[in-house]
Amino acid sequence: MAIRNLRLEGDQILSKKSREVEIIDDKLQILIDDMIETMHKYNGVGLAAVQIGILKRVIVIDLYDDKGPLVLINPVILKTKGEHEVDEGCLSFPNKFAKVLRPEEVVAEYTDRNGKRMKVKAKDLLAQAICHEVDHLEGQVFMDKILPGTLEYVDQD
Ligand code: NI
Repeated sequence: MAIRNLRLEGDQILSKKSREVEIIDDKLQILIDDMIETMHKYNGVGLAAVQIGILKRVIVIDLYDDKGPLVLINPVILKTKGEHEVDEGCLSFPNKFAKVLRPEEVVAEYTDRNGKRMKVKAKDLLAQAICHEVDHLEGQVFMDKILPGTLEYVDQD
C-alpha cells in the first residue's frame, strides 16, 4: 500500500466529473487500499478517488467505529430524508471548516470491492459523508455550498 498525494484547493481536477468503474481488477484493489491508507494518514472520514487525482467513481469512508472502512464503487443516492445544518471539512481544503446543509438520512446503492451491488441506509455522519463524497464524484466540493458567514480556519498542527 502507499500514501498518495492529495489534490488540494485550486487544483482543477476537483471540479471534474468522475467516470463509472467498469472492471474491478487488481489495479482498482490497489487504488482502494491506497485511498484507505491515505484517508487514515490524514485522519479523514472520507476520500474520493478524484482527491488523489483519479477520476473514477470510488469513495472510501471510515467513521472509526467497529464497521471498519467502507468502500463504495459507483455509488448512487436513491433517497434522502430531512435536512440539517452540520459542520464539515474536506482533506482537499486543509484547516477550513464551515456549516452546510445535508440530508439527515440517505439510502444509497453501490458496488462493494467484491463486485456485489449493495444498498445502505445511512443517517447523521454516515449520510453526511456519503453526500460529501458523492458530490466529489460530480466535481462539487463542500466550499460550493457553505452557509454564508460560517467559514472558519482552524490550525490543526
Ligand atoms: Ni472532501
